[in-house]
Amino acid sequence: MNGATKTAIQFTLNDAPVSALCGPTTMLLDLLRDQLDHKGTKEGCGKGECGACTVMIDGRAINACLFPALEVEGCQVTTIEGLVGPRGKLSPIQQAFVDHGGIQCGFCSPGMIMSAHALLTSNPDPAEDQIRAALRGNLCRCTGYVQIVDSVRGAAVALRRTEAGQDAKGGPQS
Ligand code: FES
Ligand code: FES
Repeated sequence: MNGATKTAIQFTLNDAPVSALCGPTTMLLDLLRDQLDHKGTKEGCGKGECGACTVMIDGRAINACLFPALEVEGCQVTTIEGLVGPRGKLSPIQQAFVDHGGIQCGFCSPGMIMSAHALLTSNPDPAEDQIRAALRGNLCRCTGYVQIVDSVRGAAVALRRTEAGQDAKGGPQS
């Protein structure tokens, strides 16, 4: 890669415009972690097999370890950092993973949560088989998936309540 021509790209990262220089073999995961200091996205296998590196590009969950950075030119990229609310408040999906025990060692969690976020963005009330299908590319060696599926279900309920103007427990929002 040394000496390879670098190209300037612009895209939106977690609602903020960013610019970066990338070579033809730079992967989005390396751009995010090494150049842009967004280390919430994890590297597991580096081969598209574990889902630890999942981020959203224009609303779709993708493996950042295999996605050429040059291809995010003009795109909206969302990482786990982009889900956190004001003053570090966890998003409903992150909170549901905490509440339902979907986080054990936590290494797979950012990718798992981003896949769940992509699912719930397009399908606010998924059935269990739809949740399991959406998480098929995300490997977790800790939880056996029961708590993770519960977490996504819990997140779906919390998000629907938020949409309806209720707090996460079903009461009126203050
Ligand atoms: S690190 Fe990208 S799929 Fe494993
Ligand atoms: S919580 Fe440990 S690998 Fe998923």
